Order: sequence, then structure tokens, then C-alpha cells
Amino acid sequence: MPTSNPVPAAHTPAPGEPVLVLLSPGADPRLADPAAPHLSVTDQGVTRGDGLFETALAVADETGTFALRKLGAHLGRLASSADALGIAAPGPEPWRAAIEAGLAGFAAANPVAPGDRLSVRLTVTRGPEAPAGVEARPTAWALLTPAARTSDAERAEGVRVLLLERGLDSAAVEGAPWLLTGAKTLSYAVNMAALRHAKAHGADDVVFTSADGYLLEGPTSTLLLARTGADGTRRIVTPLRQKGILAGTSQSVIFAAAEAAGWRLGYGPLAPADLDGADGLWLVSSVRGVLPIRTVDGRDVPVDAELTERLQAWLDADGDPGVHVSGDPIRDED
Ligand SMILES: Cc1ncc(COP(=O)(O)O)c(C=O)c1O
Repeated sequence: MPTSNPVPAAHTPAPGEPVLVLLSPGADPRLADPAAPHLSVTDQGVTRGDGLFETALAVADETGTFALRKLGAHLGRLASSADALGIAAPGPEPWRAAIEAGLAGFAAANPVAPGDRLSVRLTVTRGPEAPAGVEARPTAWALLTPAARTSDAERAEGVRVLLLERGLDSAAVEGAPWLLTGAKTLSYAVNMAALRHAKAHGADDVVFTSADGYLLEGPTSTLLLARTGADGTRRIVTPLRQKGILAGTSQSVIFAAAEAAGWRLGYGPLAPADLDGADGLWLVSSVRGVLPIRTVDGRDVPVDAELTERLQAWLDADGDPGVHVSGDPIRDED
């Protein structure tokens, strides 16, 4: 029977190449050649997109040592996605060991300067098709790839987004766990198609909307909005998660820091009309960070460089919540 990890030889990473770490139950994580085949063609991750992933950011500190940002939140969300999919994914300890092995492998093969960044992608699939009555064995690996820093110019300029309907009524999502909207599954073909559509129509990114008109999220990011109340209090708002979005780890770190700084927090629901009067809108995610939105469907929206910098600094401060919060902890709709 084909297995997903058939290559037993140890691998020494070469300079500049991604570092691949394979996980197997009961065994130490193993560095493997990222250019060699490791997946069975019957693996349900590729035949059905049946699996999950996390993408985290590792940044080298002043001593050139990599540390993974908000790892607890990523591992918590991974466990929550695995639960939603019913996949027996590796737990936090095997992942921590695999990441450590991968970071050590990268550092042994490459000069590391303070501020260098790696995208650390953790993937679990349901595994190769198994005979009837036999439980499939999940396939799991971590892939570490050098990641470019979002340039100051890109961060200052911002992105043009289109609002694109995702085609699901948000009320239907609430009672339909099989839609997996709160899990980070491998089924991202629709998200990638939406990004291609935006690029073919003069935009850079997308904010999905529900069929009943709510703002949801970007294909690979969370939407944030800042407002100032009549009394001068700042508020940061993100769409209501129950409407069918992935709870972002970046959003959660930024919200915790904003609250500590005296901002009020809001969890939607948000409709396109709520964008009017905002001080700024952003797409946030672990690797790209905080990106201001400069147009929505071709209409200019305010870009506030100072606010962008502040949100990015909150994200960089890495207040790892240590856990993944998938609900809507605070309802603040006034
Ligand atoms: C659909 C979706 N929403 C939000 C995010 C942002 O999540 P995080 O901030 O945890 O990277 C991602 C990240 O890839 C995503 O794919």
C-alpha cells in the first residue's frame, strides 16, 4: 500500500532551499528533501482537498535566533480545525518539535540576520485512501520557506479590494458545521480564484460578502475597521465570526493590544454601508501583516499611515493569547 512518507533517508537542507519536516506518530520529526516526492497520489489532501493547514511567521531576533510568532494561537486553531474535520492531527508537542527541528535545519544551512523571516506552514491531510473499514492515517508536515517582508511602500500605499459574494447566506452557515467555515481547510481553490478575479479586474485583493449582504473576510486575511466615536473613543471592529469566517490569530493579537490601549472592540455584524465614515480599513494576516485598504470597488477610502503603523506594532509585539478563540467574545454593535 502506498504510504505518504516512504523516504526514510535523513536530509541536510541546502542554503536557500525550503526546509521540510515530516511528522510520524511515535517517531521524531525528520528533515526531508523538499524537492523529492513524499505524498501518495491517493492522499485525500490532494484528491479532495481534505485536510487543514496553518501559516505562521517566524522572525529572527537580534541574536539571529528564530522565534515563531503567536505559536499557541496557531496550534490552538490547528486543533480546532482538526476537530471540525474529524482528523487525528498531531498535538502541540510534535508540532513544536517539528518546528524546532525545521528552524535548526534552516539556521544550520543559512546565514541568519536579525529580522529575517520564515513562513512556517503546517499541513495535515486525511491521508492516503485506506481499505474499507480501515481508518486513514493522516499525513503531516511542516514547510519553512524564506518570506519577504512587506515593503514600507506597499504598506503605505495599500491595496485595492473588490467586494465579491461568496454565495452563502450567513444564516445558513450558522446551523451548518459541515460547511467548515470556521476551519482552515485545504480547500482554498475558491479563495485563489477570487484573488485571480480581482487581479483581472484592476484590484489587488478581495473582501467576501455573504449572500445576505454581510462583510466577511479576505481570501487569506481578516478585515479590520477603525472608527472614532462621537466622544472621541477609538473602536476597532471585525466582522461577526458567526457569519461564517475564520477567526484570525492576527486579529486576536491586535484586538488584545487595542483593548489594553483603551480602544473599544466590536465584532460586527458589518455591512458594506458600515465602511462609510471609517478612519481606516485593513486586511491582516500572519505573514503579510497589516495592509491598509485604499479602495473598495473603486471608491477611495481613507488610508491612515499612523494607524497602520500602530496596528502593525501591536501585531509585532506578539502578545500570543496562547489559545485559539473561535467565538465572538464581545458583542458591541452600538
Ligand atoms: C480565510 C482567512 N481568513 C483570515 C486569515 C488570517 O489569519 P491569521 O491572522 O491567523 O494569519 C487567513 C490566513 O491565511 C485566511 O486564510
